[in-house]
Amino acid sequence: MDSLRRSIGRVLALATITMACSAANWLPLESDGVHDPTAPGVKHLQQPAEALKVLPPDTTGNHVRWVEALEKGAINPRDRLFSKAPTQIREDDILLNLNGGMPIVRFPHRAHTLWLDCGNCHDHLFKAKAGANKFSMFAILQGEQCGVCHGAVSFPLTECSRCHSVARSGPSRVPAASPGGGAAPATR
Ligand code: HEC
Ligand code: HEC
Ligand code: HEC
Repeated sequence: MDSLRRSIGRVLALATITMACSAANWLPLESDGVHDPTAPGVKHLQQPAEALKVLPPDTTGNHVRWVEALEKGAINPRDRLFSKAPTQIREDDILLNLNGGMPIVRFPHRAHTLWLDCGNCHDHLFKAKAGANKFSMFAILQGEQCGVCHGAVSFPLTECSRCHSVARSGPSRVPAASPGGGAAPATR
């Protein structure tokens, strides 16, 4: 439970930042529609533009590449709320959408478990077994599955190629010899 709280804290922090500056430019806190411009405390808060401009830039969302920022040590968020909460990083990638028309979707566990506890996804969103879940882009666009977070607290769904990132014609990645798509280590 503690580890769940730890990651919920992180996601909430990310959500706050996302909501605060989802426009093309970072809006001042006074005009972001979230903060009360008449509140005396607002002028004591750091402005998003000042806080975020030093981080690896993105062209979308809240204009920060968060995974890069974390991997480079540009940010060092607390990874737990309670000192005894365990943390666990998982390194494997899972390939999804082996039979569709779009490029294959690479789901990286690492980029997620750097922020999130396993319990944020398993098992209420996804069964922890490659191929055991039925994904659908339609459901994702409705805010389900990956769309619970992407488009809300993490990079937006308009960034097709960040998920559909593995070319089908790539020399070694395509399980062409296996019609069922079973050649890659963790696929569906
Ligand atoms: C957050 C990750 C993510 C993003 C961003 C994303 N997709 Fe998907 N997409 C998926 C997943 C996961 C599936 C389901 C794979 C499966 O059916 O097994 C999928 C499936 C699809 C499918 C059906 C399967 C196929 O390849 O024909 C289409 C079409 C599709 N996506 C188009 C898009 C387009 C266009 C965009 C950008 C506007 C986009 N997706 C953005 C994750 C994503
Ligand atoms: C952001 C969501 C998310 C988080 C967080 C997450 N996973 Fe997963 N996990 C997935 C998805 C998506 C799959 C692929 C399921 C599929 O193919 O249908 C998966 C698959 C798995 C599998 C099956 C692998 C295989 O090859 O069969 C295991 C085991 C697993 N996860 C364990 C974990 C553990 C342990 C953690 C925490 C350290 C974790 N996951 C964190 C989304 C997540
Ligand atoms: C519980 C929330 C959550 C769910 C569910 C989730 N993601 Fe993510 N994802 C994140 C967060 C947070 C990040 C890191 C912040 C960012 O890149 O916007 C991330 C990052 C990523 C990245 C890496 C981006 C990079 O810069 O390296 C990919 C790719 C990705 N997600 C794909 C997926 C796919 C595909 C699914 C569904 C199978 C999915 N995610 C489900 C929260 C989630």
